[in-house]
Amino acid sequence: MRLKTHIEDLDDLLGGGIPAGHVVLVIGPPGSLKSTFVFHVIHSNLVHDADMRAAYVTLEQDGVSIIEQMSALGYDVSRIKDRFRIVDWSALKRGMSERTGEWIDAFIRPLRQLKEDVGLDILAVDSLEALYSVADMRNPRAEKYILFSRLKELGATTFCISESRYGDLSAADFREECFLSDGIVHLSIERIGRAMGRYIGILKMRQVNHPMEYYPLLYSDGKFSIVRR
Ligand SMILES: Nc1ncnc2c1ncn2[C@@H]1O[C@H](COP(=O)(O)OP(=O)(O)O)[C@@H](O)[C@H]1O
Ligand SMILES: [Mg+2]
Repeated sequence: MRLKTHIEDLDDLLGGGIPAGHVVLVIGPPGSLKSTFVFHVIHSNLVHDADMRAAYVTLEQDGVSIIEQMSALGYDVSRIKDRFRIVDWSALKRGMSERTGEWIDAFIRPLRQLKEDVGLDILAVDSLEALYSVADMRNPRAEKYILFSRLKELGATTFCISESRYGDLSAADFREECFLSDGIVHLSIERIGRAMGRYIGILKMRQVNHPMEYYPLLYSDGKFSIVRR
């Protein structure tokens, strides 16, 4: 089964969409539309399928600000509100336990509960860096491995938003999550003279024979498109 991005040409390139249950890294600099892209996938899937449920874990912006931003971008949030849960961690940034690895349980438990109670098809974590900043990590490599295993076990198609610098990804942007995830979507902003353009590249997508190419990413009024030659 595939989860459509509902960005027409992108779903074509992915052979129908993102394999359901994948944990996908959405990586890019500020303003590259990471949050908007992930919200777009959630919103359009919930609008098209009345049985789908999604959760958006926000650590960087509060829940109200996410809703306001998405409404301002042209998404009618009222159409999905019964099946869409914002899990707002921005208010409780401290309070995760001191014991190694316990923050992972504290983070996953409410999500697992949500899945048992009402179901969970799509999950967003915005952002990993904000999550790590409140997680008292003793052994980052081991704990990130456990986090990704737990996310995978949840069974939802999961988007983990991650911050990079501007321009191409470099060694400095390289991280364990690139190995641990099933897919990497890179959203970039490039400057050519005075102009700036947004691009999208699929760097990795397990089970998918995708092209290795960047495409201009256009956005207006709740509609994304990519430019193929
Ligand atoms: N009404 C709009 N139409 C198109 N683009 C917009 C609109 N409002 C804001 N934006 C763009 O969205 C960007 C923020 O997108 P966002 O998804 O929050 O990025 P990120 O999460 O990668 O930091 C803004 O910098 C702006 O360029
Ligand atoms: Mg964002």
